[in-house]
Amino acid sequence: MIKVGVLGARGRMGRTVCETIDGAADTELGAQVDQGDDRTALLSSDVVVDFTHVAAVMDNLRWCIDHGLNVVVGTSGFGDDRLAEVRLWLDKSPDTRVLIAPNFSVGAVLMMRFAAQAARFFESAEIIELHHANKMDAPSGTALRTASMIGEARAKAELGAPPDATKQELAGARGATVDDVHVHSVRVSGLVAHQEVLFGGHGETLTIRHDSLDRASFMPGVLLAVRGLASLPAGLTVGIEPLLGLD
Ligand SMILES: NC(=O)c1ccc[n+]([C@@H]2O[C@H](COP(=O)([O-])OP(=O)(O)OC[C@H]3O[C@@H](n4cnc5c(N)ncnc54)[C@H](O)[C@@H]3O)[C@@H](O)[C@H]2O)c1
Repeated sequence: MIKVGVLGARGRMGRTVCETIDGAADTELGAQVDQGDDRTALLSSDVVVDFTHVAAVMDNLRWCIDHGLNVVVGTSGFGDDRLAEVRLWLDKSPDTRVLIAPNFSVGAVLMMRFAAQAARFFESAEIIELHHANKMDAPSGTALRTASMIGEARAKAELGAPPDATKQELAGARGATVDDVHVHSVRVSGLVAHQEVLFGGHGETLTIRHDSLDRASFMPGVLLAVRGLASLPAGLTVGIEPLLGLD
């Protein structure tokens, strides 16, 4: 039995994680911790899962690493700076494992992969990500990661910036730019998590779209991470790709 503690246990994702862990035959739901609760209840966990908030996750992660707890993180907001900081903390706790995944949905991971594969064949690439109106960060972590994967593939293929003749622009009309890839964030009540990657070339376009229709879409990936964490090398792993045999 893998004993799992949950941080953010009363949130939308946290509640679904608690139900999933409780319902799986080989996992046991331990401490359920949310804002204001005592984190020491997590100390007996084999794995801690964090789905909290961009402003809270670094403090939680630091606390877990300092206490030698292995952590699976789904909370958004991990850019290169934050990842570097986590690696520094892990240097001082060499047996601890942390997996940070911008997206636990298998379909979304494949969408990112396919986008990276397609990137070198098209001069234009833009991303539209669409989420529920309660999402606090924009662009989404998935969009940021997709953009940097596309950017890397474009740089390798020496493609340069995509063509764009825009001279006059209402601020924000062309979205945010990440590694030369324009990223447009839509926030609409009723949506869950969706993303389209649009490529354009010579008289053709290619659209790769992924839809998470329910928070349940993230749960196979969360379980995979909880079960597979001990098999990963100590230190930081980013994304569930190694556990899906994609790396
Ligand atoms: N990686 C993925 O696949 C994936 C999928 C969906 C959502 N997310 C991310 O997960 C995070 C949570 O999303 P949500 O929709 O469940 O949000 P939510 O607002 O419904 O839940 C967050 C919960 O965290 C709690 N919290 C805040 N600060 C805390 C702290 N210091 N300690 C413990 N708990 C604390 C809040 O009280 C709340 O209950 C967001 O960052 C979201 O973008 C990631």
